[in-house]
Amino acid sequence: MAFSQDELKQQVAQAAVQYVKSGIIGVGTGSTANYFIDELAKVKNKIDGAVASSEATAQRLRKHGIEVFDLNAIDGMDIYVDGADEITEHMHMLKGGGGALTREKIVAANAKDFICICDETKYVPVLGKFPLPVEVLPMAKSYVARQLVKLGGQPQLRDFTTDNGNIILDVHGLNIANPIEMEANINQIVGVVTNGLFAARPANILLLATNDGVKTIKK
Ligand code: 5RP
Repeated sequence: MAFSQDELKQQVAQAAVQYVKSGIIGVGTGSTANYFIDELAKVKNKIDGAVASSEATAQRLRKHGIEVFDLNAIDGMDIYVDGADEITEHMHMLKGGGGALTREKIVAANAKDFICICDETKYVPVLGKFPLPVEVLPMAKSYVARQLVKLGGQPQLRDFTTDNGNIILDVHGLNIANPIEMEANINQIVGVVTNGLFAARPANILLLATNDGVKTIKK
């Protein structure tokens, strides 16, 4: 039986809840993360609360009666659960389709394990078919765009303002043969806040929803 993409997202969200034990949970952003929040609500008595990677996630958590903690008020967390736009067998991810990449990377950095929840359409041999989101300080927009062209990309300004008050350039056509190097190179450009490559800190566990069930891949 073939499941819809939404059904697969829901199934993988249900699978991720098995990893929720206690304490504070780091929560990502996007439609898959939203399904996870809805599942988390069913076990909210097991946990103290959550740290949110976006205003939208914080709002949804609160709507379910889950306390949202300031990241600076806590001392790390066991797991961070989030979706991705693309992920490889090396657990390198491309993220930021929802524009929350910077806060996602910050919250993830504070977690022992990054649990990536995806449907199988996100599992790719090489990153970069999905345009790479880069969060940029507004005054640096043109400068950063020119540098991204030098790296072989075609940046496009997204009609969007991030939770941090910045802009997003979606970079098409990049050859991301070495995601760790590309992540570092783009972060070196003055005016870049973060880019959507999550390779220096890859996922630890990938839960991949397929038509044959949710597969668990560990690094
Ligand atoms: C948001 C993200 C999301 O994880 C990514 O865009 C996947 O979203 P979805 O679960 O809606 O497919 O990085 O910034």
